[in-house]
Order: sequence, then structure tokens, then C-alpha cells
Amino acid sequence: MSIQPLVDRHGRIASDLRVSLTDRCNLRCSYCMPAEGLDWMPHEGVLTDDEVVRLITVGVERLGITEVRFTGGEPLLRRGLPDLVRRTKSLVPAPDVSITTNALGLERIAPALKAAGLDRVNVSLDSVRAADFARITRRDRLADVIAGLAAAHEAGLRPVKVNAVLLRGINDEQAPELLGWCLERGYQLRFIEQMPLDPQHGWTRTEMVTAEEILSSLESAFTLTPTGVARGSAPAEEFLVDGGPATVGVIASVTRPFCGDCDRVRLTADGQVRDCLFASAESDLRTPLRAGATDAELADLWAAAMLGKRAGHGIDDPAFLQPARPMSAIGG
Ligand code: 5AD
Ligand code: SF4
Repeated sequence: MSIQPLVDRHGRIASDLRVSLTDRCNLRCSYCMPAEGLDWMPHEGVLTDDEVVRLITVGVERLGITEVRFTGGEPLLRRGLPDLVRRTKSLVPAPDVSITTNALGLERIAPALKAAGLDRVNVSLDSVRAADFARITRRDRLADVIAGLAAAHEAGLRPVKVNAVLLRGINDEQAPELLGWCLERGYQLRFIEQMPLDPQHGWTRTEMVTAEEILSSLESAFTLTPTGVARGSAPAEEFLVDGGPATVGVIASVTRPFCGDCDRVRLTADGQVRDCLFASAESDLRTPLRAGATDAELADLWAAAMLGKRAGHGIDDPAFLQPARPMSAIGG
């Protein structure tokens, strides 16, 4: 079958598919979800495992998708996750398959995910101090995350990556501590600038902890040297720590946007294509899928959906509007 790449009007080609499997989560990170949770998607609106695999198959076989990342909410809350991984990994050509997870329950399921063919995990962890972890996530579950990380490493899901978001006045002075903790355990840490995706719509640029601040804080304890590897479509800028080989990454989504090199496309748990985290429009694939569309028809709809992808997120534009969906319903 010939590949019809997912091109947009700015010359970018999307080959990295993020699939959100649920909007639910067992944590309540303040920058992602309100304390009381959200109105969850109705069950019948969420794609079934077979529907998810069908759309991923269209993406891989017809649209040139080479990387699939399962996200949420929390993807480990989907019972069928190992099977979804196995079915995705058995497509031809086999994509790279990873998950972004909070690691709750990973301790138990890491070996099954590895056996199913999962390549890697990214674990969200913003503080290794139990009290601050609980303050940020509103749940006292740091020990489970630590056990989940260790299990993933043990199962060979390497490199284990850790994503951290720094929040002013809460954990903004913990960058060196987090890095030291990750280095000791062989995890690759990346800091992500907080983006305006919070449910309270309370994000302000001046409150955000910038990549520059993160780097200078790290430099108080470590020597950082740019790896010199071109960033390309990988959003993290990587630095060697104390001469290497360990590295740390900083994802300056806001202050140094990488939209021009973006190769991502997203599928929500209810079957909508989002061409950008910040997109205001979505394209419905669930309705045609359930109405019996062929793979070729779904591929055409998906390809058409990419034509509206904007050149950049426009966070600095006075007319910028946060997307209606919060992060937990888009996926990371
Ligand atoms: N800005 C930056 N990163 C965020 N994440 C969730 N919300 C935001 C935000 N507003 C991160 C999580 C997780 C991944 C899915 O995205 O910490 O690592
Ligand atoms: Fe859950 Fe991730 Fe959102 Fe935290 S950031 S509430 S772990 S989906």
C-alpha cells in the first residue's frame, strides 16, 4: 500500500501519533485537573480497543505513522493496554510504541507491557518529596510512583524517562534535587515548561518557571554542556551533566517553541483528530468509523484534518485562546 503522508500547509509531516486512551486519572495534578475531577466522557463515546487499533492501523499502514504513544488521562487505567500495545507493535512496519504515565500501578504491569512489545515509558514526577508530591497531585502516592519507575527499569523499558513540571513557590527550587535523584537511578529527566492547559485557566506567563531559570538552577549544582545534537522534531534540548554520559533535557514549549518542526498528531479517547495540543478545532473520525467507513475513507478524512494545522501555538498572541479541552482530555 502506498503511503499518503500527513502533510500540512506549512510543509510539516506528522509521523508521531499520540493516542489518548481515557480522560480519567487517579491523580489530580493541579495544572491538569480540578480537585473534584471533571465530567468524564460517557463510556459509549470512548473508542473501544478494536476501534483504537483500527485507527492506529490506518495511521501506520496508510499515513506513515512510525511512532505511537499512548497517553490519557492515565493510560494504565485502560485494562486492555497490554493488548493494545501488542496489536500496535504487530503492525507492519512496526511502530515505536511508548506510554506517558503517572506510574501508579506500573509496578504490577511493567513486565506484561514489556512482553507485549512496549519500547519505553515516560513517567510524570514533579517532586521526590512526599509532601510536595501530594500537594501537586492531591494524592499521597509518591511511593507507588517510585516503585513503578523501578519496575519499569527492571523490566527493561529503557531508557526510563521522567517528565517534571516546575510550579512557582511549590517545587521550583527542586530541579537539582530531582536531577540528582534521577541520575542515581539511571533515569533520564526532562523538565517541561508549564503550558496554558490548566483547567482553571489560571496560567500566566510571568508565573511560569522558564527553561532559562531551570537551567540556571541546575547549573548551581551541575555542569551542563549542550550535547550539540540538533533538536529537530525532538522538543527537548539535551545537556550533558558533569561531562556525561548522563543527560538532562529541557522542553521550552513556551519560551522557545518548536512548532516549526512539529511532527505530531493526536487522537482523543473519543476519536477526534487534533492537529495540535492547542487546536481549537477537531475532526471527528468516530462517527464515520462507526458508520462503516473504509480504511481508505478514514485515511482521507484524517489527511484532510491536517490541512488546518496552524504554524504555531500562538501563546504570545494577544488573541490566544486556551483549548476548550483540558490537558487530561487531550493527552500529553
Ligand atoms: N504544561 C506542561 N506539561 C504538562 N503536563 C500536563 N499538563 C501540563 C502543562 N499544562 C505534563 C504532565 C505529563 C505530560 C502528560 O504532560 O506532567 O508529564
Ligand atoms: Fe493525571 Fe497526568 Fe493530569 Fe497528573 S498530569 S492529573 S497524572 S493526567
